[in-house]
Amino acid sequence: MLSAKNLQLTFNPGTPIETRALRGMSLSIPAGQFVTVIGSNGAGKSTFLNAISGDQWVDSGTISIDGSDVTRQPVWARALRVARVFQDPMAGTCEDLTIEENMALAQERGTIRGLRSAVKAHQRETFRARLATLGLGLENRLTDRIGLLSGGQRQAVSLLMAALQPSRILLLDEHTAALDPRTADFVLQLTARIVAENQLTTMMVTHSMRQALDVGQRTVMLHQGQVVLDVSGEQRQRLDVPDLLQMFEKVRGEKLADDALLLG
Ligand SMILES: Nc1ncnc2c1ncn2[C@@H]1O[C@H](COP(=O)(O)OP(=O)(O)OP(=O)(O)O)[C@@H](O)[C@H]1O
Ligand SMILES: [Mg+2]
Repeated sequence: MLSAKNLQLTFNPGTPIETRALRGMSLSIPAGQFVTVIGSNGAGKSTFLNAISGDQWVDSGTISIDGSDVTRQPVWARALRVARVFQDPMAGTCEDLTIEENMALAQERGTIRGLRSAVKAHQRETFRARLATLGLGLENRLTDRIGLLSGGQRQAVSLLMAALQPSRILLLDEHTAALDPRTADFVLQLTARIVAENQLTTMMVTHSMRQALDVGQRTVMLHQGQVVLDVSGEQRQRLDVPDLLQMFEKVRGEKLADDALLLG
C-alpha cells in the first residue's frame, strides 16, 4: 500500500519564479494496483513521482509505504521499496557497465556490496533466462556494455531490472515516450506482464489517453498539483478517449476562469 497525504511542494518560494508544484496531493494505492497517471505539462506528475522516490522532498504532507512513514527518508533508503524507469532510456542504467553488471546491481540494490563485484554464475543464469523472455536476443549479449543497446532494448532491460529489485513499487515516468510506436507497444506489453507477474504497485505516467484507459486498473488525472479525476472499475470502463480530452478542457477552462478572477 502506497499512501500520499496532502503533499505540498513549492519550488523557489518567495521569488518571482515561485511554483507550487504540489498543492495538497493525496492518493492511496492498494498493493498490486496498476494506476495510470495523466495531466497536462506542468501538472506535477514527475514531481509527484520524485516525491515518492525521495528524489525530491516535500515541504509538508506524509508519504507512507506499507504503513511506514518514508517522508524524510533519502532516495537510497527508499530504493529497497521503490524502483523507477524514466522517459530517457539513458537514465537509470550505468552505460559503462555490462548488461549483467547492471542487472546484478539492481538485484543487490539495498544490500552492502562492493561495486562491480563479480557476477556470480547462478545470477548469470537467472539473467540469461529473464533476458530470453524478451525475445530480443539479449541473452547472448550479457557482457556487452549496456550503452550499446538501442533505447527500446534499454527500456526493456530497465523493466527487467526493476523486477529483480526487492522493491514492490514501480514508478514509470513516460517510459515509452522516446520509443518508436512499435517498440513503445512492445515495452508497454512487457510492462503489463512484469507488473502482473510480480504484483507490483505501479504508477505509470503517460500522455496517451488510450494507454491511460487501456493499461492497469485505475486512471488518475493531475492538475495544478492535485488529483482532479480518479476512476476505476465500471466508471473507468465507460470512459473513452474523448471523455478524457473533454475533462482536460474542463480543468483547463476552470484554471482560465481562476486566472481571470485573479487578474480582475
Ligand atoms: N526542480 C525544479 N525547480 C523548479 N521548478 C520545478 C522543478 N521541477 C519541476 N518544477 C516545476 O513544477 C511544475 C510541475 O512540474 P512537473 O515536472 O512535475 O510536471 P509534469 O506534470 O511532469 O509535466 P510534463 O508532462 O511536462 O512532464 C512545473 O511548473 C515545473 O516547471
Ligand atoms: Mg513530467
